[in-house]
Amino acid sequence: MGLPVVIFALALTTVAMALDNGLMRTPPMGWLAWERYRCDIDCDNDPKNCISETLFRDMADRLAEDGWRELGYTYVNIDDCWSSKKRDGKGRLQPDPKRFPGGIPELARYVHDRGLLLGIYGDLGTFTCMGYPGTTLDNIETDAQTFADWGIDMLKFDGCYSNATEQEKGYPLMSKALNATGRPIGYSCSWPAYQGGLPPKVNYTQLGEICNLWRNYGDIQDSWDSVLNIVDWFFNHQDILQTTAGPGRWNDPDMLVIGDFGLSLDQSRSQMALWAIMAAPLFMSNDLRTLNSEARTILQNKAVIAINQDKMGVQGRRLLKEKSEIEVFWRPLSNSDSALVFFSRRSDMPYRYTTSLGKLNYKAGSYKVYDVFSEKLMPGLSDTTDFTVSINPSGVVMWYISPLVPLSFRQNYRVSSLHGGLELPFPL
Ligand code: GLA
Repeated sequence: MGLPVVIFALALTTVAMALDNGLMRTPPMGWLAWERYRCDIDCDNDPKNCISETLFRDMADRLAEDGWRELGYTYVNIDDCWSSKKRDGKGRLQPDPKRFPGGIPELARYVHDRGLLLGIYGDLGTFTCMGYPGTTLDNIETDAQTFADWGIDMLKFDGCYSNATEQEKGYPLMSKALNATGRPIGYSCSWPAYQGGLPPKVNYTQLGEICNLWRNYGDIQDSWDSVLNIVDWFFNHQDILQTTAGPGRWNDPDMLVIGDFGLSLDQSRSQMALWAIMAAPLFMSNDLRTLNSEARTILQNKAVIAINQDKMGVQGRRLLKEKSEIEVFWRPLSNSDSALVFFSRRSDMPYRYTTSLGKLNYKAGSYKVYDVFSEKLMPGLSDTTDFTVSINPSGVVMWYISPLVPLSFRQNYRVSSLHGGLELPFPL
């Protein structure tokens, strides 16, 4: 198959099989507590960082006031350790009364009043991973209804303390139960991560029908090693994973750790660029109250967000692994646009990598190139022209590429419906 045929076929397959709740037509974006705040419940000694309503209110304030919401970062998501160790008299989950004195409905109102959405965490099994009450099969409907009654907008459903048989029953059941509440609740399934992430144990066709996103693989940590390990797993299995993603159903390589402690500036750009290529959900797990301006600039880069949020929703691929330890990634976008990432795994000095668009499978023609991180529009480039990019160690160069022909000669998309409705920082 030629490239356009592949793209068309992928676009078609994505239409057919997504979970029918109409949500998350582009990868969800927002903030999730786990990686940065874990199970810190010591509010007496660490009031600013413990898992409490204060933390989620603070993050909602920041998302609403510091320009995040307008860029698409709309979810404020609670993870493990929010609940009381006991269900209430009616068998319902309840928040820890000391750390969430206002209750979840009040927190949901606070978040909604700021134009944001509230996510919560549950676990299919006898306990959550940190030992809080889990959702056994007989509790699924009660818990789905409780979340809906509280005004919850997204559920991350983990899989600690359940076996494969229970998961086979429980994940589809929760999907049904959420739909039955009548409240639109985005559904994130950790199921595949507990079954090795690969067929035949994992059925991605079914996942696309019951979940909006799913964790395929292990937990991210605040280190470059962890990011690399995740990147390698996802791109080593791209032939399996790429076709499973599409509007309403996304592979989730886990949170962004940009703005924390483990990544350099270049590594932070690399995580952002590769998550955009993967059409990954963008959940930051950092402290938005103290974020430095370099991290903010990366996370708020409009072009990389536009690439991530592209309406066609085709997950990108690694095209090349060079002996020089340069790797090239590509993602097709709406409107015949595309994104390229040149990534260096080297540890010596900026590497000058020479290639041409033709060598990277581009059709004959001229292209407009926008450099995403230097925020510069470059001179037009023909497919046959060799160019050289200088890539920092563990860094990336990312390009947003448009064919140099008028929009009307390309495809019949309305500009306003493109790029998640974001205005691009450069002319199309
Ligand atoms: C698992 C999940 C993490 C996080 C923790 C909470 O490890 O994969 O993302 O939710 O549980 O205990």
